[in-house]
Amino acid sequence: MAKRSKKTVKNSSSLTNSSLYTQKVMEHFMNPHNMGEIEDADSVGEAGNAVCGDVMYLYLKIEKNRIKDIKFKTLGCAAAIATSSMVTDMAKGKTLDEALKITNKQVAEKLGGLPAIKMHCSVLAQQALKNAIENYLKRNLKK
Ligand code: FES
Repeated sequence: MAKRSKKTVKNSSSLTNSSLYTQKVMEHFMNPHNMGEIEDADSVGEAGNAVCGDVMYLYLKIEKNRIKDIKFKTLGCAAAIATSSMVTDMAKGKTLDEALKITNKQVAEKLGGLPAIKMHCSVLAQQALKNAIENYLKRNLKK
């Protein structure tokens, strides 16, 4: 009789039984961080996907070139909500230059990966952040 390995695999990127998504994606989808709106935001960004119709709004509060507060509203799929939550966690506290360097691949990696057919959802989150920062920089360059 062959010996059974008692080794258990503990990997945060392991897929949940009931879905295509990692445990981390499910956590951020079920309990998103930084969800909501900043009423007196210094800048608002928007990104949409013409194919699926999902849309994300991202609000920034900026102090001394640094993201002091960040919130989002996403009308979209589980991956769009999870990546929105993660991108806001990643950007909070960063300078605008540092936040502009966040890529959608980094966001997906922090979530333990996304199925290939859902990678475009992470683009939505990264583009909304980029749009909010660019809107802020454009407005402040004009002053
Ligand atoms: S299916 Fe539209 S962003 Fe995910």
